[in-house]
Amino acid sequence: RLLIVDFGSQVTQLIARRLREARIYCEIHPFQKVDAAFLADFAPRAVILSGGPASVTEDGSPRAPDEVFTLGVPVLGICYGQQVMMTQLGGRVEAGHHAEFGRAYVTPTETSDPLFTGLFATGREEVWMSHGDRVTALAPGFSVIGESPNAPFAITSDPERHFYAVQFHPEVHHTVNGARILRNFTDLAGFTGDWTMAAYKEQAIEAIRAQVGDAKVICGLSGGVDSSVAAVLIHEAIGDQLTCVFVDTGLMRMGEAEEVVTLFRDHYNIPLIHADESDLFIDALEGESDPETKRKTIGRLFIEVFDRYAREVGDAKFLAQGTLYPDVIESVSFTGGPSVTIKSHHNVGGLPERMNLKLVEPLRELFKDEVRALGRELGLPESFVGRHPFPGPGLAIRCPGGITREKLEILRKADAVYLDQIRRHGLYDAIWQAFAVLLPVRTVGVMGDGRTYDYVCALRAVTSVDGMTADFYPFDAAFLGETATRIINEVKGINRVTYDYTSKPPGTIEWE
Ligand code: XMP
Repeated sequence: RLLIVDFGSQVTQLIARRLREARIYCEIHPFQKVDAAFLADFAPRAVILSGGPASVTEDGSPRAPDEVFTLGVPVLGICYGQQVMMTQLGGRVEAGHHAEFGRAYVTPTETSDPLFTGLFATGREEVWMSHGDRVTALAPGFSVIGESPNAPFAITSDPERHFYAVQFHPEVHHTVNGARILRNFTDLAGFTGDWTMAAYKEQAIEAIRAQVGDAKVICGLSGGVDSSVAAVLIHEAIGDQLTCVFVDTGLMRMGEAEEVVTLFRDHYNIPLIHADESDLFIDALEGESDPETKRKTIGRLFIEVFDRYAREVGDAKFLAQGTLYPDVIESVSFTGGPSVTIKSHHNVGGLPERMNLKLVEPLRELFKDEVRALGRELGLPESFVGRHPFPGPGLAIRCPGGITREKLEILRKADAVYLDQIRRHGLYDAIWQAFAVLLPVRTVGVMGDGRTYDYVCALRAVTSVDGMTADFYPFDAAFLGETATRIINEVKGINRVTYDYTSKPPGTIEWE
């Protein structure tokens, strides 16, 4: 496996993405954690030193442990990582007077280097630079193999030791052949790109068995991809030592609760507690219109309910969570000293301490699309694996204004018709998330010979990569017209439908 030492660049995660895409297993660890003992234990076959916001010319700026350079494995330094290499290996870096950001073109000064296999077909490579300092003297053993007008040391190498240092970012898309550069580096480190989900599954199962022993594990199942994949994987590892708890808040989509219970209990035979607590949740929310109060009430009740059912399971020692890699990458903090900030998953936040549980997080090394691939490997049906995200507070935050059972019922029906339309037109997989919102507004209409005075339904659909930014989905008018007609005809209580053309930012995906 390959070790990525993180010096805090905004794009360090992309190095891991590119390598995983090339089927190379790698892990990112913050520089503070990587010391000689860590290296001995990790035993990397190659090391990549990431970029970062600091300047090696500043006192106390981050360094790699010297052992990185005596392991006898290839090392690639990117941007700040390049400067770290030069400084630690005996070269010199000076604070730059003009920073260079953005597109640049690198030409080779040496064409036979293995790092360049398949590159420079047009004589130059387009790369993305982002740096302030510059190297003024190369470390012994290094020579320049590629240069750009503003970066005479754009690519340097020490072929004896297989050390490479680049001033640009090969991991970003703007570096057109960046993935190829990374692959050439991993090729010369001996990686064959044979990391597969099947192999990962076996590894993960072994790791779960080793961690859990014969203790009992409980898992909160939400019906989403992450918790579903985690549950099935853990069940393969430890069988009936696992019990799942599905808390039905009454705020799920139509048919969702039945689907989850049927799949896990009947199909997989996983012990499952179906906690139908819809009355508890809806009574607590009845009439509540403040979005934050809704969220907090739901979060608090969820923990209470889960806690209560988990006690039924008895002496569980572990809580399983579908935490993903982006949630756990420890971000490098320069202001907080050696302590690192860790983002934690808050699905069932508060529970581990309260119940004295340890966490099992078998997906914590995977990105979302890899979790989907693992789900397929485990035989989960496509309807689960390819599912749109669904927020924990569910329909409560799609019903602005006071919540009532009646409104939830109307919303559930409209939402079901809308999703049926999207599936029928083959659009489900092109959309990140689509849902109906029931507005707290009534308008006048005419149906048959009668006057109606009913609710307005807004439809939302967005495309997105990570949910952080989003674009509205450009349905054609015929689709929207047909969907509006179906909703008004099939759902009593709605007589008008609108479509939400807001992107994020400035809007958010959910309405509350
Ligand atoms: P927003 O509305 O912030 O949503 O643009 C971004 C993504 O997060 C989901 N979301 C939530 N998920 N609990 C969740 O588990 C929540 O409270 C919550 N709020 C929003 C939303 O569905 C979208 O995918």
